[in-house]
Amino acid sequence: AVPTILDVDTGVDDALALMLACAAEEIDLVGVTCVAGNTRLPDVLTNTRAILRYCGREYLPVAAGADRALVREPVGLDNAWVHGGAGRGYATIAERLAPSTNVHAAQFIVDEVRRRPGEITLISTGPMTNIALALRLEPRLPSLIGRWIFMGGAFAVGGNTTPAAEFNVQADPEAARIAISEFSSAPQRPTAIGLDVTHQVRLLPRHIERLAAMAGDEFSVVPGSGPWGTPSNPLLAYLEGAIRKYAEYHQQLHGFYGTYLHDPVTVAVAMDPTLVSVRPAAVDVECRGALTAGATVADWKKVWDKEPNVDVAITVDAERALATVTHAVGSFIAS
Ligand code: BDR
Ligand code: CA
Repeated sequence: AVPTILDVDTGVDDALALMLACAAEEIDLVGVTCVAGNTRLPDVLTNTRAILRYCGREYLPVAAGADRALVREPVGLDNAWVHGGAGRGYATIAERLAPSTNVHAAQFIVDEVRRRPGEITLISTGPMTNIALALRLEPRLPSLIGRWIFMGGAFAVGGNTTPAAEFNVQADPEAARIAISEFSSAPQRPTAIGLDVTHQVRLLPRHIERLAAMAGDEFSVVPGSGPWGTPSNPLLAYLEGAIRKYAEYHQQLHGFYGTYLHDPVTVAVAMDPTLVSVRPAAVDVECRGALTAGATVADWKKVWDKEPNVDVAITVDAERALATVTHAVGSFIAS
């Protein structure tokens, strides 16, 4: 199993990504770092610590990082209609949480990769603020990290929170620009899991019902209904409350009752890179445009005469990705 740090802004789909990282045999989670994004940092921490406790991983270090973007005013923290006011939809959590460390997330990342140069995979599923800060603490980070896979960007498709930008990049474009450009020196190109692929992976009622059945429970997923079931398992209860809220948002904005699996797909690609096909490209982030800040610009036609610095995911085997997520998380909850 590959030693892995997950950098999250938990977040409904981050929550499922975190459960998947705990469940996956291919992943040896060594710590989780938190960043403000889908919700405020204290809620990100609470949600993350609750999930780790429910997953039986309360011994893992959880490090708080940036509570705002490097330069800009926060965006999205008040988007209660997307992830719920506290980033967990309708889910409620028990009072006992896994502990958190006093080390800053950026320092935690630096310390871990210095201890095991070249070994650690970093998966990020939130704004890249902690990663930019880690790069300022340790400029050799790109060569010390084994592999960086990030959920972020919209390369050949439009954005989700602005017409041009995907949320994780739009929330902190300067951080994304620093991280993506400085990782140009990495021995292995980072992999970008953007909306191009995550909008192809839809968790629908039948997948949710299957996951619940694998976990030993019965859900009846009806759009606009109340709770889908009464799970006794805290992980399944968290998922039910969180995903039900996120499904309502998807119904309103994206026209289907279910959820895109942005962050879980990113973890699934760490487990099995063959789930996506990638195309290398020189990528940069727009930080100035009044309408386009946070746009990820990929030089497909090679007009910049620059070496590719990102492997951009272009296609995904959606059914296999869905099966990977539901199977791993469902059997983990059952065990
Ligand atoms: C990304 O933004 C967040 O809302 C999700 O958690 C995901 O990381 C998708 O644009
Ligand atoms: Ca996220």
